[in-house]
Amino acid sequence: MTAREKPSRAIGRKSISASLQPSDLMAEQPQLAAAWQAQVITLLPDAFPGILGESLMGKALKDGLWQLRTHDLRMYGEGKHRNVDDTPAGGGAGMVLRADVVSKAVTQAKRHARGSTPILYLSPRGKPMDQAMMRELSACDGVILLCGRFEGVDERVLQHHDIAEVSLGDFVMTGGELAAQALIDATVRLLPGVLGNDQSAVEESFSDGLLEHPQYTKPAEWEGRAIPEVLLSGNHGKIAEWRQARSEEITKARRPDLWAKKQG
Ligand SMILES: C[S@@+](CC[C@H](N)C(=O)[O-])C[C@H]1O[C@@H](n2cnc3c(N)ncnc32)[C@H](O)[C@@H]1O
Repeated sequence: MTAREKPSRAIGRKSISASLQPSDLMAEQPQLAAAWQAQVITLLPDAFPGILGESLMGKALKDGLWQLRTHDLRMYGEGKHRNVDDTPAGGGAGMVLRADVVSKAVTQAKRHARGSTPILYLSPRGKPMDQAMMRELSACDGVILLCGRFEGVDERVLQHHDIAEVSLGDFVMTGGELAAQALIDATVRLLPGVLGNDQSAVEESFSDGLLEHPQYTKPAEWEGRAIPEVLLSGNHGKIAEWRQARSEEITKARRPDLWAKKQG
C-alpha cells in the first residue's frame, strides 16, 4: 500500500493521509473559498511544493490557509511530443516557450482563479520583488505564476494576457520555479494565522522601511563575545531605543537606497 492509498483521517476541513508527503498537500483538493490560492504554470510540476511543503508553510497548506495548484505546461504542448518551445524568431541561441502553448495553460489557470488574482511572469527583466509587493499580493485572493525556462516566453502571450513581470534579483537562473517559491513563501507568511504567536511580521526587516537590528540568544557569553548588556537589562524602553538605533545604523551602512527612501 502506498502513502497515497493509506486510510485517511479528517483534519479540519480536509482529509489527509496518515503519512502525508509534501506533494500530497497539493493533490486534487476542493477549492477552499477563503484560502489564498497560488497557481504555478511550470514544466517542472514535481518541484512543487518543494520547500513550501515544509515547516510553517507546509502546516498552513495542510490547514487550508492557502492552496497550491500546479499546471504542467507539457500537458498543453503541441503534437505527439507535446512540444512547448521553438527556436527564437530572428535567430540566436536557445529556445522560446510558444505563445499558443503558454496561453492555453494561462487560460486554464484563470478558470480556477477567483476575485483578484494577478498573473505574474517570473523574469530577470521584471520589477524587483520587495516586501511591499508581497504585502499587496497577500491582500489578493491569490496569484498565477508563470515560470519560464530556456530563453523565456514569446512576448505576445505576456501582452495578450496582460502579464506583469517580477524578478527575484539581478541575476539569471535556469527557470522561474525558485523565484516562484520565494514569492509564495514571502507572501503566504503574511497571511493571517500563518506565523505562530511568537513570530511576527510586524517587527522584521522592511516592515518599517529599515533592516532589522542584530538578534542574540543564549549563552550570554560565547567565544569571548557577550550579548549587549542593554538586552539583558529588562528595560524595555532602552531595549527598543537600542534596537531602533542599530536598525538605522545597519540600514544606512548596507542599504543607502532604503535609507534615502525612508528619509524622503
Ligand atoms: C535562462 S532564464 C531566461 C533569461 C532571459 N533570456 C533573459 O535574458 O532575460 C529562464 C527563465 O528563468 C527564470 N528566471 C531567471 N532568472 C530569474 C530572475 N532573476 N527572477 C525571476 N525569474 C528568473 C525566468 O522565468 C526565465 O524565463
